[in-house]
Amino acid sequence: MSALRTKSQNSETRAAASPENRFTPSARPLSANKHLIRWVEKIAELTKPDAIHWVDGSQEENDALCAQMMETGTLIKLNQDLWPGCYYARSDPRDVARVEDRTFICSLSKEAAGPTNNWVDPYEMRRKLKTLFRGCMRGRTMYVLAFSMGVIDSPMSQIGVELTDSPYVVVNMRIMARIGLPALAEIDKDIKRVVPCVHSVGAPLAPGQRDAPWPCNDEKYIVHYPETRQIWSYGSGYGGNALLGKKCFALRIASNIARDEGWMAEHMLILGVEDPQGEKTYVAAAFPSACGKTNFAMMIPPEGLEGWKVWTVGDDIAWIKPDRNGQLYAINPEAGFFGVAPGTSPETNPNAIATLSRNSIFTNVALTPNGGVWWEGLTDEPPAECLDWQGNYWTPQIGRETGRRAAHPNSRFTSPAAQCPSIDPQWENPGGVPISAFIFGGRRASNIPLVFQAFNWSAGVYVGATMGSETTAAAAGAVGKVRRDPMAMLPFCGYHMGDYFRHWLRMQRGLSSTPKIFHVNWFRKGDDGKFIWPGYSQNMRVLKWIVDRARSRAFAKETPIGWVPRYSDIEWKGLDFPQEKFEQLQAVDTSAWKSEVMGHEELFIELHDHLPPEMIYERELLICRL
Ligand code: OXD
Ligand code: MN
Repeated sequence: MSALRTKSQNSETRAAASPENRFTPSARPLSANKHLIRWVEKIAELTKPDAIHWVDGSQEENDALCAQMMETGTLIKLNQDLWPGCYYARSDPRDVARVEDRTFICSLSKEAAGPTNNWVDPYEMRRKLKTLFRGCMRGRTMYVLAFSMGVIDSPMSQIGVELTDSPYVVVNMRIMARIGLPALAEIDKDIKRVVPCVHSVGAPLAPGQRDAPWPCNDEKYIVHYPETRQIWSYGSGYGGNALLGKKCFALRIASNIARDEGWMAEHMLILGVEDPQGEKTYVAAAFPSACGKTNFAMMIPPEGLEGWKVWTVGDDIAWIKPDRNGQLYAINPEAGFFGVAPGTSPETNPNAIATLSRNSIFTNVALTPNGGVWWEGLTDEPPAECLDWQGNYWTPQIGRETGRRAAHPNSRFTSPAAQCPSIDPQWENPGGVPISAFIFGGRRASNIPLVFQAFNWSAGVYVGATMGSETTAAAAGAVGKVRRDPMAMLPFCGYHMGDYFRHWLRMQRGLSSTPKIFHVNWFRKGDDGKFIWPGYSQNMRVLKWIVDRARSRAFAKETPIGWVPRYSDIEWKGLDFPQEKFEQLQAVDTSAWKSEVMGHEELFIELHDHLPPEMIYERELLICRL
């Protein structure tokens, strides 16, 4: 274990910041906006930080913050020859994923939040949070972090300010959003409404108390006030709980704004498919967390499909709006990827590997003796030894004997999207890219075919609304249970799910060309328990059929659940995949589907008083066809 240090020796990895890059907070406001300045003062009066720092977003500031976090043990600088610009963090083992049961939509009425969200009366919640936040930043710096979701000059972008006591959040948000001076300049123009976000790890420091490498609190609250468009988050420093521009703003609050303003905030990747003639077709796809959105968004077509290319616009969130002519356009409101590390490899996603190879932050993966990172699936051969995500010595044998993994299943890389080799030249187009198809998908071992196309928009909304998927490690809780996850938005829709379906149905009314809607499932298993479909780059064959259908140049066969490709409708060049296996993948077992429809019923009963009638008609039509 020569080059390795165990957790107890962690302090040895704490590097001293040199005087020239030592971080010095600057309380001088970087905005002239009086409301903003007053609000910062008000939150500081409540939370009592030792210092305030207005984040300018510069490289120097970032370097100084990283140096400071190396001193506290929050960050370790990776071997810069192998991983230039990269850092490594280990979270507290009790703070490793989004906490859905601690996530609240505090609308004025419980009814508005709906039965799929946790709700607490907003007045009661404000009282509770006031108590929790009182003095919670003592001993820390409060960072004033202005950010834009979407490129600064896009009419589709939105502005937020996160007040946070976590420098880890600041350096991650610098990758995930457009932060600092340009965002502050937008605020000073006073054109866009600002979404105020307050975040604390909930771990005040007594004078002289040494900080933990990953401060957090067992009591966690991720709170959204949809009417006043505010976010308060307490107790966690991890991912979507703490990087408030992502799930809290870009999905939960933005879904409310979008409903009110006639656009859509969706848990969707956006990609462009270029055909051999050079024509590009953009699609947006909703899969639940950790179901392969990042891999799909960066796919490299397999052998046999030369001339086709996939361009990445975004891997997680899409804001979609009709233009003046009724064509839907989408932007990626994020600037980086917060991707699940395990399973990401040069084979499964070479574009992600190229993206994360520099200027990235790794959280909860394993640390190798040469100052690099590793996770399950990165290489076939694990390293002979490493420190696992909790800093404990790990070898493949220890892993086999104890079942302990080197990397946490929800370990992540935070990487700039601009570094992605497949990034679409249009990814920062302020007007977005035109969307021709929507794809829904889940992780389902049985029943659900590889691909089908909904008969029309309202049947497609039904398909999205009734989506099911096996749960993953992206959220705390049981893994592998099928749950209904409408449009992959169950944890992210900031209002009543029934009203959300109605909003989807309404959106079609203003459209001149309606995107086609599809459903995919890469995860169907055979009787031997193995996946039938090879997945990854082979998914391009399915995507090609989808794009060709969207452009009305591919055939299909009608089934009770929708249109499906026949074997001859898929391009098989370069893959030996027998027809009988394809039929097995595509099989629609009517009795199993009847039970599936009963599963739809469970959610619909819960939503009944807000459920649009179209959903009932679609279900009845489906039952009749079955
Ligand atoms: C994510 C998630 O981090 O969906 O994207 O959990
Ligand atoms: Mn996601």
